[in-house]
Amino acid sequence: MADRRSRPDRPQLRQRVDPTRKVAWEVMRAVEEQDAYVNLLLPALLRENGIAGRDAAFTTELTHGTIRRSRTYDAVLDTLAPKGIDAPVRDVLRLGTHQILAMRVPSHAAVSTSVDLTRAVIGHRPASFVNAVLRKVAASDLPTWLERVAPSYEDDPVGHLAVVHAHPRWIVEALRDALGAPAAEGELAALLEADNAAPQVTLVARPGLADADDLAGLSGSPGEWSPYAFRLEGGDPGAIEGVREGRIGVQDEGSQLVAIAAAAVPVAGPDARWLDLCAGPGGKAALLGALGAARGAELVANEVTPHRAELVRSAVRLLDNTEVVVHDGRTLEADAPYDRVVVDAPCTGLGALRRRPEARWRRQPSDLVGLVPLQRDLLAHALDLVRVGGVVTYATCSPHLAETRGVVEAVLGARDDVELVDVTSVLPEVPYLDRSTPYVQLWPHLHGTDAMFVAALRRTA
Ligand SMILES: C[S@@+](CC[C@H](N)C(=O)[O-])C[C@H]1O[C@@H](n2cnc3c(N)ncnc32)[C@H](O)[C@@H]1O
Repeated sequence: MADRRSRPDRPQLRQRVDPTRKVAWEVMRAVEEQDAYVNLLLPALLRENGIAGRDAAFTTELTHGTIRRSRTYDAVLDTLAPKGIDAPVRDVLRLGTHQILAMRVPSHAAVSTSVDLTRAVIGHRPASFVNAVLRKVAASDLPTWLERVAPSYEDDPVGHLAVVHAHPRWIVEALRDALGAPAAEGELAALLEADNAAPQVTLVARPGLADADDLAGLSGSPGEWSPYAFRLEGGDPGAIEGVREGRIGVQDEGSQLVAIAAAAVPVAGPDARWLDLCAGPGGKAALLGALGAARGAELVANEVTPHRAELVRSAVRLLDNTEVVVHDGRTLEADAPYDRVVVDAPCTGLGALRRRPEARWRRQPSDLVGLVPLQRDLLAHALDLVRVGGVVTYATCSPHLAETRGVVEAVLGARDDVELVDVTSVLPEVPYLDRSTPYVQLWPHLHGTDAMFVAALRRTA
């Protein structure tokens, strides 16, 4: 029998723990107990434990995949252990369940390494419980489990999709509403599933700073929608010379399209004074600054948080036309009005859930209570800072209607010196846009980008 626990002649193995699984468990505990960010903590623990190459890829898939689908696995585990499960043991069980149901780890290996992990990080007492529960998990495959634990689609479509595709109900509802009624079941499911796949790393070759030669030799392919985008096949972007020098950045193609659209919406008259009101950490400011430099425009990149302003400084360090300032964007003052202002507003980030495994479980509907008024104030102040004939571009990396059209329409409704501009027309090559509205809404399942929203407003008086 392959199960190493059955070999009494090798007791020392029982004390061993696989470092990849231990790191995954530590990250999960820190996410729950300390509100840690997986994207910051996991790379640090991989380095600290000397985990690299294929082992690092395994640990990343194990950690991200388990956290993304944790509530779905909880539905399975709760049917097997109705009396309750302590949080540290639950995390071992979630990791084991992900290996059994969603990774190609043989069940006996997933069970035995989970038992070893339990002994090493929790103690001997729960080891037999973990063993028993995971053996029962392994008795059925994922589709069978989903059929058993998810409500039927007919009875409760949102509840069904929430369990099957591992999202909280309120996010399923928000995404359904943002897709537009009536969103086909298949389309909503495709969107939710796109959130469960890690995005490809995309580079931006900043115009005027990098060109095709800088990308030659990299494995990957040009982006589909942005002329500056390159989708990397693999490897560490930090090892690329142009990235280290700041001529190339790592930037989702959707974010590139926001900056491209913001620079392309027509303004009447001069077009030399640009402002990015919410610039941290600086990805869009760097592309905007580069686009502006080619047209003789100067960019002010504003950010309220000093440490994020430092990140902006680093991102734009090669651009002579870009100045970084630190102010609250709701009260920033200007010597003269701007020709273009970009408001890439702080938001729930529901359009970038595929990047942050824990975000869907940490975000709450109540977050909107603080964010929406802030978004409205930032957009309203941006309109005060732009000259008549100038344009404000409003963007979010969330498709939630309260943060997108809701904000734009509330601000428009409160003043008579602003008109909506059709922003879809500046992205004529981009498919799957609803061109019957003036707004751009990108989607992970259609464009392979984050779900960025873009609106443009012109001062008329
Ligand atoms: C969505 S992020 C911007 C992303 C950025 N444009 C980029 O592409 O890298 C929103 C930023 O707004 C900043 N922010 C939040 N409140 C703000 C305020 N009152 N004034 C200005 N910036 C603010 C946040 O610190 C955050 O860096």
